[in-house]
Amino acid sequence: MAQVSGDCSRGSAPNSASSSVGPEQIQHLLHVCKEAKKEAYCPYSHFPVGAALLTGDGKIFSGCNVENACFPLGVCAERTAIQKAISEGYRNFRAMAIASDSEEEFIVPCGACRQVMREFGRNWDVYMTKPNGTYMFKTLEELLPLSFGPEGLKKL
Ligand code: THU
Repeated sequence: MAQVSGDCSRGSAPNSASSSVGPEQIQHLLHVCKEAKKEAYCPYSHFPVGAALLTGDGKIFSGCNVENACFPLGVCAERTAIQKAISEGYRNFRAMAIASDSEEEFIVPCGACRQVMREFGRNWDVYMTKPNGTYMFKTLEELLPLSFGPEGLKKL
């Protein structure tokens, strides 16, 4: 049974929003991102990552990191999942779960992925996991405060 980690902000930290995702759906997301990690193409970093992206209407898109011999062209798992979803017509997202093999640290999205997530709203739930099934929960707003997004351009 998965456990919420001690420093998980879910319902306990003073500045955290509560998740709009139900407990069963969270467990499903955790499972999907762990499965997606198995498909990671990471011959250079040997750091497999999996992601599971929940849409507003309950569909889940998975993603893994896809590296390249030309290193900067590598893509993170989170962005793979987002690109799959966008390319199939989805724009409305509720949550992202992320998995890696790191036992010590919860896997957190990189800055570039946070910004790409931000493109599609501030109201995301982000579940950052460890292989033992514990997770840390933050909103995207907490992970990327004072963010710049599409609305900023409309003020010109
Ligand atoms: N990576 C992800 O896919 N997501 C993250 O949240 C952090 C890092 C990937 C990028 C690269 O393929 C490998 O992990 C090492 O940085």
